[in-house]
Amino acid sequence: MKDVITIDGPSGAGKGTVSRLLAGKLGYKYLDTGALYRAVAWKARAEGVGPDNEEGLKKMMDNINISFNGDRIYVDGTDVTSGIRTKEIGEMSSRFSAEPVVRSGLFSIQRELCIQGKAVIEGRDTGTTIFPESENKFYLDAGLEERARRRHEELKDKDPAIRLETTLEDIKKRDARDSSRETSPLKKTEDMVYIDSTSLSVDEVVEKIMSYLRL
Ligand code: DC
Repeated sequence: MKDVITIDGPSGAGKGTVSRLLAGKLGYKYLDTGALYRAVAWKARAEGVGPDNEEGLKKMMDNINISFNGDRIYVDGTDVTSGIRTKEIGEMSSRFSAEPVVRSGLFSIQRELCIQGKAVIEGRDTGTTIFPESENKFYLDAGLEERARRRHEELKDKDPAIRLETTLEDIKKRDARDSSRETSPLKKTEDMVYIDSTSLSVDEVVEKIMSYLRL
């Protein structure tokens, strides 16, 4: 499969910005799979379901309705686009994403949204688990400090008191959890093109990816 492009990598590597721009250039659709995990965390919080409550989570996953309209994301009809972009939901989504029942619930949603092709899909396991058959897989990385700086820029609009040091510690924790979980951990595989974006501009990263594409 050539026309589903997968981009995986840790928090703050620039996957979102790069994938959106790349999709725009190619005329492809763009799927931010992290937003799906954040949507699940948002609903779990609203319903008071904890990550250890397997039965409650299963029930919730059987009934959840996540939809998109352009750049907006909805959970059961409620627009959560802004509500899922908080530090708290980021942290919660990382915990919920380690639960197999959550991952299997989101698996088919991700496949269905992109299976017709012409899509850029980004996350932690898009090239290993969701579209392992893709022939255009990328792993986008950046140094820890730079990733923390980027994430901090995003978060400080909502929470001006947030400190860079705290963001860096949070990112470290999330890296460890996302890479060490048993089900579909974040992993770079041999068939992925590795790109370090630490000192590259967004346009340079997009250009680099375009130069490797086999369409
Ligand atoms: O990319 P993000 O920060 O929006 O992702 C939120 C969390 O969701 C992240 O900590 C790990 C999880 N996630 C995942 O496990 N698998 C994906 N494909 C995407 C995100």
